[in-house]
Amino acid sequence: MKQKLNILFIASECAPYAKTGGLSDVVSALPIALTKLGHNVKIVIPKYSSIDTEKFKIKEVLSPMGVHMGNSQEWCSVHSTKHSKNVEIYFIEYEQYYNREGLYNDSEMNDYKDNPKRFAFLSNASFQLCKDINFKPDVIHSHDWQAALSMIYLKEWYGNDPFFQDAVGALTIHNIGYQGKCSFDNFEYLGFSNYVFNPDVLEDFGGINFLKGGIQYADIVNTVSKKYAEETKTEEYSHGLHTFLINKGEKYFGIVNGVDYEQWNPKVDKLISHNYDVKNMSGKSKCKLELQKKFNLKNDKNTPIIGIVSRFASQKGLDTLASVIEHIVPNMQVQFAILGSGDKNLENYFKSLSAKYPEQIGVYIGYDNELAHQIEAGSDFFIMPSLYEPCGLNQIYSLKYGTLPIVRATGGLDDTIDQYNEKTGDGTGFKFDDLTPQAIYDTVGWAVSTYYDRKDHLKKMIKRAMNKEYSWKQSAKEYVESYQKAIENNK
Ligand code: ADP
Ligand code: GLC
Repeated sequence: MKQKLNILFIASECAPYAKTGGLSDVVSALPIALTKLGHNVKIVIPKYSSIDTEKFKIKEVLSPMGVHMGNSQEWCSVHSTKHSKNVEIYFIEYEQYYNREGLYNDSEMNDYKDNPKRFAFLSNASFQLCKDINFKPDVIHSHDWQAALSMIYLKEWYGNDPFFQDAVGALTIHNIGYQGKCSFDNFEYLGFSNYVFNPDVLEDFGGINFLKGGIQYADIVNTVSKKYAEETKTEEYSHGLHTFLINKGEKYFGIVNGVDYEQWNPKVDKLISHNYDVKNMSGKSKCKLELQKKFNLKNDKNTPIIGIVSRFASQKGLDTLASVIEHIVPNMQVQFAILGSGDKNLENYFKSLSAKYPEQIGVYIGYDNELAHQIEAGSDFFIMPSLYEPCGLNQIYSLKYGTLPIVRATGGLDDTIDQYNEKTGDGTGFKFDDLTPQAIYDTVGWAVSTYYDRKDHLKKMIKRAMNKEYSWKQSAKEYVESYQKAIENNK
């Protein structure tokens, strides 16, 4: 068995350069954890114009680089910087595709029409990059639909190329709700033989489905929690792909995400006003007062704050929360600190709420990493009523900050949070099963009453939550085992 693997990560985002969600946190942290286990990892993402090249000391390393797409030869360039001591990250610069502020959409949230081409190009360019920098991969590890076609390029285009002959394809599904569905018009550009356009691979109701093709061609496929791996094998959760995942058998599995505790730990977090840890919690109450000031909430250390940091997307269940929040606020002594952006109706609704209940509801529409850390630190609870949640990172961050999660028991939320037991005081959070206004109302009420009436339980839960570890080391080991198995099977 080869001890030191060469692993190429292909993705559409990586923190801190380009981020819209948890995908970027994973693509940033997992390579570092893999190198700590002795492997050699490189990352490739597009060079969006929003990436701060100066700040990150990003330099051009290859120009021009020719990439052959189905019906054209195209020329891009490659830039790079040190992501960490041992991980290099590469950025594909191709003006016509990536010289845009948004990663996937314009400021009105309209997807760019050429997204299929933009990300097909990324997938294919990554192979040329490997050759040009002489990085012979043992594993091509691609993330989500944007990089899924690399699984097909690997087998269809590079299968007989000695440079890639031994490489296996690993695909991680971070969110099956996004599949890269597009019209057949894009097919010629991809450059695959006609037989790839069949219902067992890329074809989907007459169009193309990137994720489905990737699943079919990948040697191994995983998602980011064990429960979501099971859920996605059912019609309810799979967005149409369950039979393909069931058919993968043991080649489809779940590995829970870890957390980068250098970034998300109240003991060392540089973005919060006062540091604290499980032994000395005084900093947390100070962070709470700061948070109340920041959101113009009534300054009162005895009123519990419920935090939200989220994309406003249907996946997150916030429309159901929105439908019940005006019942919660008059009936419970509680405050909300809400940060997020996305769906315009939700943005407007939450904004109107903070005008209506200024002492109890604070809202910031936008994307703000510093504020996200401050909400984690200053809140007492953190709510995620997700319709589905492949893993979810914020609830895991919340545990470390002693901010007890209130979650719907789905996907990674169910796997990472232990239900409160009112008899014993066990547990790390408050879970409900059905995504209904009533269930949210009752569970928020349960958390709030625990805050006021069962302080000893609350304390124990906070301590237990803060002592939980979801470090990347264990998950990285599981990834390596899965790579090694795939390599064995490929021989
Ligand atoms: P998802 O990837 O589905 O959005 P996760 O819980 O896995 O959900 O990850 C979300 C990540 O994005 C977290 O790191 C969270 O702090 C961050 N995030 C989401 N929305 C915002 C926002 N408006 N401002 C700052 N950070 C945000
Ligand atoms: C996706 C999922 C989220 C997960 C993240 C990282 O965006 O929605 O649940 O934590 O990817 O894997």
